[in-house]
Amino acid sequence: MEYILFGIIAYFLGSIPSALLVGKIGYGIDVREHGSGNLGGTNTFRVLGVKAGLIVTIADILKGTLAALLPVVFQAAADPLIIGIFAVVGHMYPVFARFKGGKAVATSGGVILAVSPLLFVIIFLTFFAVLKISKYVSLSSMVTGIVAIIASVFLQHKGLMVVISILTMFVIYRHRANIKRIIDKTEPKIKWM
Ligand code: G3P
Repeated sequence: MEYILFGIIAYFLGSIPSALLVGKIGYGIDVREHGSGNLGGTNTFRVLGVKAGLIVTIADILKGTLAALLPVVFQAAADPLIIGIFAVVGHMYPVFARFKGGKAVATSGGVILAVSPLLFVIIFLTFFAVLKISKYVSLSSMVTGIVAIIASVFLQHKGLMVVISILTMFVIYRHRANIKRIIDKTEPKIKWM
């Protein structure tokens, strides 16, 4: 019962389309019509700049963190990691944006932040290290997901490795178009690093 209740709340929380809201309310721009068309922090950086990109990225991270903390705050037995998955599904397939959302990266990071701040630091550093070398945000996201699986084995947190494997599968699945563009050498590289 707790899983159903918290799962539904987490799904709705994850469904809040921060990129769409910031773009439309703050700038009068629908980011789905520009750049990669993705409702995420990266595309918001690309289309609307640093301030909007940061706001969206932080909001998307917080969706995962808050969702995973629901059972903790309400002292329920539901596993925060499982509840976090619902928020990530909401972020990818948001009921408030015709089920076309983001690529699971920031919200998954938020779930990890709630459960293991140490692992969050590890994936944060991994993401920027790969980004510095490759200049591809998409590749950094996917490599970070794989590193997170490996790191979770060493952290020996119950269920962490299983849930992070699921989240990483989401991330890679949602980057299908990016993978094709990387192979075709048409994926845009960042210029600011
Ligand atoms: O977090 C999403 C990022 O990895 C790729 O975004 O807009 O370049 O497809 P985008």
